[in-house]
Amino acid sequence: MSEHGGNVTEVARQFGLSAHELIDFSANINPLGAPERVKALITDNLACIEKYPDVEYRHLHQAIAKAHQCDCTSVMAGNGATELIYAVVRYLQPKRALLPVPGFAEYRRALQQIGAEIVDYPLTEEAGFQPDLRLLDALSHIQPDCVFMATPNNPTGLMPDRQFMQSLVAYCEKHGIALIVDEAFIDFLPDNRGLIPQCAVTKHLYLLRSLTKFFAIPGLRLGYLVSGDITGIAEMKKQREPWSINALAARVGEVLLDDHAYITATHQWLKTQQPDLWEHLSALPELTVWPPSANFLFFRCHHPDVNLWHALLKHRILIRHCQNYVGLDKRYYRVAVRSEWENQRLIAAMRQVFAYG
Ligand SMILES: Cc1ncc(COP(=O)(O)O)c(C=O)c1O
Repeated sequence: MSEHGGNVTEVARQFGLSAHELIDFSANINPLGAPERVKALITDNLACIEKYPDVEYRHLHQAIAKAHQCDCTSVMAGNGATELIYAVVRYLQPKRALLPVPGFAEYRRALQQIGAEIVDYPLTEEAGFQPDLRLLDALSHIQPDCVFMATPNNPTGLMPDRQFMQSLVAYCEKHGIALIVDEAFIDFLPDNRGLIPQCAVTKHLYLLRSLTKFFAIPGLRLGYLVSGDITGIAEMKKQREPWSINALAARVGEVLLDDHAYITATHQWLKTQQPDLWEHLSALPELTVWPPSANFLFFRCHHPDVNLWHALLKHRILIRHCQNYVGLDKRYYRVAVRSEWENQRLIAAMRQVFAYG
């Protein structure tokens, strides 16, 4: 079974259901669906699958660089942010890495593949699941070659403090530690530009972005890496397998970041649905729900007899249990924010599970 959410087909098969009967709250994908211009672009450009894509992805890199007002030499596109997690780890070859837990599973797999020593850094519930300046002490003791940080973090949905991130960037710059910041969900935060502008002042920062969640194209696959380490970016481009981004995804990436109408519509949807879902779930005494920053919510169920994952599946709702995250257990869950009617179905089903409905 996959370590990730979004595996609707597998769950449906196991439980004798059909995949389209299930509402998928387990993958954090924008429910507005892929932008219309993406769908049109794909149908209008089907002929491009008959040719190899540009192995250098010049137009795609130019579009990303333009969107972030940086140089193409600082940018590398990938087949989802996932490809770039592996690319950056393969390039850096860290002997020792610090991994805040809980966190996204692919950092660990990428580090394991190159035989790096992994030191887990627990983000505990007592500390609000948030990193703070104690992490810098840990860095000075452990002396890793690299550290991962997701902003916002998955599965907690929490955004580390801005001041803390500045201190972390400065510490890593001073001590030559590679800081890999995963901004896969940052586009959902309307006012947060993330750390890309910092790439102008440090070579130790590697920023990962994903286009699959915000633009609802997880099946097309597209993400990018931005860093001031232009030697590193050039080396990673040289090391990578050729043509890993398909021609249609590359074409889509050239226009996506300019789709301001879709970006605004997404922020408008989230502005109402995120607090609404949070409010309703928080009102259930059985749950402790952490305040979300992006398009998903993380919570603990303190009802010892209820397996929410199974209970909600009976209501044809698939959520993400978090028991396979290092640092969490079966009491923790994550749900995506979806459309209004779907969120209402989730709330109603939860109330029924806890026998209020
Ligand atoms: C924090 C985080 N980073 C990266 C990814 C990978 O995204 P992509 O679909 O672009 O490979 C995910 C996917 O769930 C994620 O949760």
